[in-house]
Amino acid sequence: MASLGHEVIAVDIDSQKIALFNQDVVPFFEPGLTELLSKVKKSNLTFSTNFSDISECDIHFLCIGTPQSEDGLQADLRALESAFNSVIEIAQPGSIIVGKSTVPVGTAERFAVTLNKSHPEVLLNWNPEFLREGHAIADTLKPNRIVIGARTEQEAEKLANFYREISPEVPLFITNFATAELVKVAANAFLATKISFINAMSEVADATGADVSLLADAIGADDRIGRKFLGAGIGFGGGCLPKDIRAFLARADELGLSESLQFLREFDLINQRARVRAVAMALKELGAPKGKKVAVLGAAFKPDSDDVRDSPALEIAETLHTLGAHVVVHDPRALESAAEKIPELTYSNSIEETLTGADLTMHLTEWTNYRDLDPMIIRKLVNIPTIFDGRNVLDATKWQSAGWKLLALGRAL
Ligand code: UGA
Repeated sequence: MASLGHEVIAVDIDSQKIALFNQDVVPFFEPGLTELLSKVKKSNLTFSTNFSDISECDIHFLCIGTPQSEDGLQADLRALESAFNSVIEIAQPGSIIVGKSTVPVGTAERFAVTLNKSHPEVLLNWNPEFLREGHAIADTLKPNRIVIGARTEQEAEKLANFYREISPEVPLFITNFATAELVKVAANAFLATKISFINAMSEVADATGADVSLLADAIGADDRIGRKFLGAGIGFGGGCLPKDIRAFLARADELGLSESLQFLREFDLINQRARVRAVAMALKELGAPKGKKVAVLGAAFKPDSDDVRDSPALEIAETLHTLGAHVVVHDPRALESAAEKIPELTYSNSIEETLTGADLTMHLTEWTNYRDLDPMIIRKLVNIPTIFDGRNVLDATKWQSAGWKLLALGRAL
């Protein structure tokens, strides 16, 4: 928003994060963000821990995480509620509060009732966020749709005009609150469904000798189906897809609609099973894991991110370590966050060191630099040239002709 010329004040209660931003340091990895921030006029973007600094703003975006609760499947809305209450305190008449967070359907209406009681002249809109980590800038500047939920079409107009100026060509949907909230969770549930569907096919492929990658290419060639998000492997992780389908299930239970979303429960299980299948394949190869070295390439839940929340790669690495293997983990960006989460593992920022003497190599996050490795050269580093491709992106012919044994889920290799 600041790079487009708006005056933006970013507030967070985490004073450490704000201090870093104030020193022009982005406290997480997102490609291009540091460069973009360095181009923004200083007067257009300031950072603060103080809600009173945003009292004059016309639009208040609530961009608060809604993680899974510690004691169940439902979303934990405490941070969002706290931020909402702080913003209500300072919002001026005529301003708009815009929820971007992913929330259980019904939340916006509940917030609107609260707001209406104390500040009837402040509007609430719900404007779900669809950006992907690793593509945050492009997805923000060129989203494929904008959804604004409001009580009436007229109440959405101010925000709609704001977006029309920025992205006139982007389809804009004005909906009621429930639809806006549901578009977000339904989109993530659909993406999770596609991934778990192909991983279910991968289980069938393993039992029958079929090849899930070719299967995905062939069914994906039908443009009614599409090839995107049919990448079989160790499944989805991160701070969104897993917790969003669980929160959706929890909300459906509350609404008496458990049966309607029963399939999501199954897809969550398929997703978790992919990690178990990867560990089983590693153990089959290693025999007794004690004393064996496993090189793990990748810790982040996906490439171009340093996020390790619910990362399949890190969970597989941790399980192999718990079973007695000597696991060394490499990642171009996520080592710090991984070490913070699972300090027991050995981490290395050198691919060479990670691979040296390995009895098994596990390729678990598809960073391009792993795809670009020369299998002929790195073969000399390892003890046994066997690699498990957890993301089905390595060129099988290239690796096999360099003398590697290639393993993958659901592939006839
Ligand atoms: C996801 C959605 O794609 C965004 O639209 C949404 O805004 C975001 O959640 C959110 O709710 O905030 P993100 O979690 O950044 O974005 O990552 P994705 O690109 O969706 O990938 C999620 C996981 O699925 C990753 O672990 C990835 O490796 C895995 N995946 C993806 C597969 O296993 N196979 C595929 O074919 C594609």
